[in-house]
Amino acid sequence: MKASQITSNMIAVAALLIVAACSKSGETRSAKALFAEKCAYCHPDGGNIMRGTKGLKRADLERNNIKTVAEIVAYIRKPGPDMLPFDAKAISDSEAAALAEYILKTF
Ligand code: HEC
Repeated sequence: MKASQITSNMIAVAALLIVAACSKSGETRSAKALFAEKCAYCHPDGGNIMRGTKGLKRADLERNNIKTVAEIVAYIRKPGPDMLPFDAKAISDSEAAALAEYILKTF
């Protein structure tokens, strides 16, 4: 392999790494933004416009036996009636965990 080929290969690899790094950071949406985009229209301010007893406030969650980040993530994947499920394509596992923490902290 000639030196010029090696150099151009290295440039190609560097470019790929930069693209990968950028798209990765672009995919990690903040929990707050995710909540606003995907949850707030049914759960404004942590409430529930469809079923008032099933809001996201701590007292509601505890009454319905949802207490931890893992339990919220599990709920999002397989929710109760009238809430559409969010799979890992819609909200990745790490985004779902951050979203759950945001809910526990915020409401
Ligand atoms: C189309 C409306 C809708 C959207 C959008 C929606 N939900 Fe829900 N959610 C509901 C309904 C309805 C229930 C109650 C279901 C039942 O009766 O068990 C619920 C219940 C919940 C509960 C359980 C609350 C409790 O006190 O038992 C959690 C947690 C929850 N939603 C989180 C979310 C999150 C996080 C999002 C966004 C990723 C989201 N929901 C988006 C309608 C929605």
